[in-house]
Amino acid sequence: MKLTLKIWRQKSAQDKGRMVDYQLDDVSPDMSFLEMLDVLNQQLIDNGDDPVAFDHDCREGICGMCSLYINGEAHGPDRGITTCQLHMRMFDDGDTIYIEPFRAKAFPVIKDLVVDRSSFDRIQHAGGFISVNTSGNTIDANAIPISKHAADEAMDAATCIGCGACVASCKNSSAMLFVSAKVSQFALLPQGQVEAADRVMNMVKQMDEEGFGNCTNTGACEVECPKGISLENIARMNREYLSASLKG
Ligand code: SF4
Ligand code: FES
Repeated sequence: MKLTLKIWRQKSAQDKGRMVDYQLDDVSPDMSFLEMLDVLNQQLIDNGDDPVAFDHDCREGICGMCSLYINGEAHGPDRGITTCQLHMRMFDDGDTIYIEPFRAKAFPVIKDLVVDRSSFDRIQHAGGFISVNTSGNTIDANAIPISKHAADEAMDAATCIGCGACVASCKNSSAMLFVSAKVSQFALLPQGQVEAADRVMNMVKQMDEEGFGNCTNTGACEVECPKGISLENIARMNREYLSASLKG
């Protein structure tokens, strides 16, 4: 396949940035999208040019590091997958592909296609955990009965990989889907009840301080989420927040 790539290049956070055109002449449909970028980068390095910086780690849809906005969609045109799981067979010979970073005020560009998503880490630090007694008298987790339905819903929420596609897809750059998944995975389980009120209050406060926008129920986040995190989690987080607010 012959492809024209239009890629966002930005030397640093201070640089203004611009789209730059590249040509690739021998792309296999069996390549992953990131392998295609590897080929481009080898070409750039061979010519003495600066390779395109992009995030990746596991390359199998688990870590949430890859984060490209491809032809106007977070993680590209396929559904239920991350950028690293996207294959070039989704494109046609002669296509022009636009590749940009995830854009949001709370995700500043570091270089080229790499954005700083440490705002997500700070939200997690604010409350996305449970405190466990590790004194030696810890109760085996399996000793606590949990209904199958609650366990399934908690596990579904816990599949959020923190990629940030929900933020990038949202016209308000809202992080509600991510935060609600992290709240829900504990709100649904007995182990999460002790800190439930503090968790939702602190995580929402941190979310607002990081500069994410509000949710206006458009639902783009759910459509683009590679893990199918449901909007129901946002409704659950709102209920948790209201209940915690009333408790004071
Ligand atoms: S909710 Fe989905 S899109 Fe948002 S961070 Fe989690 S996995 Fe990524
Ligand atoms: S590189 Fe880990 S999810 Fe894509």
